[in-house]
Amino acid sequence: MSGMSDERGFRHRVELGAVQETLFIPLAARARESGRKRPLLRDPKAAEMIASIDYAADKYGPGPGSAIMVLRTAIVDTWVRAFLADHPAGTVVEIGTGLNTRFERVDNGTVHWFDLDLPDTIDLRRTFFTDTERRRMIAASVLDETWLRSVEECPGPYFFVAEGVLVYLPEEEAAEALARVARRFPGALVALDTYPRRLLESQHKQAARKGMEARWAWSCEDPRSLERLGLEALEVASVTRPPHALRVQLPFRYRLFLPLADRLLRGLFAVTLFRAGSHER
Ligand SMILES: C[S@@+](CC[C@H](N)C(=O)[O-])C[C@H]1O[C@@H](n2cnc3c(N)ncnc32)[C@H](O)[C@@H]1O
Repeated sequence: MSGMSDERGFRHRVELGAVQETLFIPLAARARESGRKRPLLRDPKAAEMIASIDYAADKYGPGPGSAIMVLRTAIVDTWVRAFLADHPAGTVVEIGTGLNTRFERVDNGTVHWFDLDLPDTIDLRRTFFTDTERRRMIAASVLDETWLRSVEECPGPYFFVAEGVLVYLPEEEAAEALARVARRFPGALVALDTYPRRLLESQHKQAARKGMEARWAWSCEDPRSLERLGLEALEVASVTRPPHALRVQLPFRYRLFLPLADRLLRGLFAVTLFRAGSHER
C-alpha cells in the first residue's frame, strides 16, 4: 500500500496488488536518472509522479540495479523511435505499462498509442494521465483477448512492448500471450526482456530480503527459443551490450561502467526485438 498527495499535500491511499507495486521500481530508477547532470534519459514526469506518491522506497526505491533498468528502458526507447521514424502513424502498445512515460519520451505527434495494464494500475495511472484521440489506456490483463480488438481498430504497423512484465507470469501464460500477438498481428514488432533461471533465483532471494511479495516466475535461457511461438528474433541485445544506435549516445558514466558490467553480467539481462509471424511451428 502506498499514499499519494494532492496539491494541498493531502495523502491518498494507493492500493495495488503485489506485482502491480513493482511499477515503482523502474519509475524510481527513471526519476533518479532524470535528476542527474548528464542523464541517459530525461523523464521529468517520472520524477514528478514519484515525488507525489508515498511508496515503499525501502522495497522499490533506487538501488544498484537502477542503471540496468534505465538502460533496458533506453534500449526499448531506441527501437520504438526507429519504428516511428519508419512508420510515423503506426501503433505502439505498451503492455504492463505501469507508470511508464515512454509516450512522453518518444511521441512524434502522429503515433497511436495504447497503455495496457491491470485495472488497479490503470486506476492509479488515470490520476496522472488522460486519454486523448491518439493515446488510450486499457484496463485488462495481457492474458485477456478482448483488448486485441481495440488495437486492431488502430492503423498498423504495430509495435508491442512488454518491459519488465512477462517475467512475472508463469511460462505457459507468457508463451500464450506472445503466441496470440504473433498470430493476430503478423509483421508486428515485439520487444521484451528475458532472464535465465539463475537470475530468477537471485531475484527471489532479494525479494524475500526486502519483504517484496512479487516473484519472477518465467525464466528463459535463450530468447531465440521464443521463435517457436511465431516470432523471429531481429536483434538480441543486452543491457550491458546495447544496440549501436544507443551505444554511441551513452553518457560517460555508462561508457565507463558497461565493460565491467558486461564481464560480470553477460547473458543475464537480454532485451530482444522480434518480428511476429515468422518461424511459426
Ligand atoms: C515492473 S512493472 C513494469 C512497468 C513498466 N513496464 C515500466 O517499465 O515502467 C510490471 C508491470 O506489469 C504489470 N502487470 C503484471 N501482470 C500483468 C498482466 N497480467 N497484464 C498486464 N499487466 C500486468 C503490473 O501491473 C506492473 O505495472
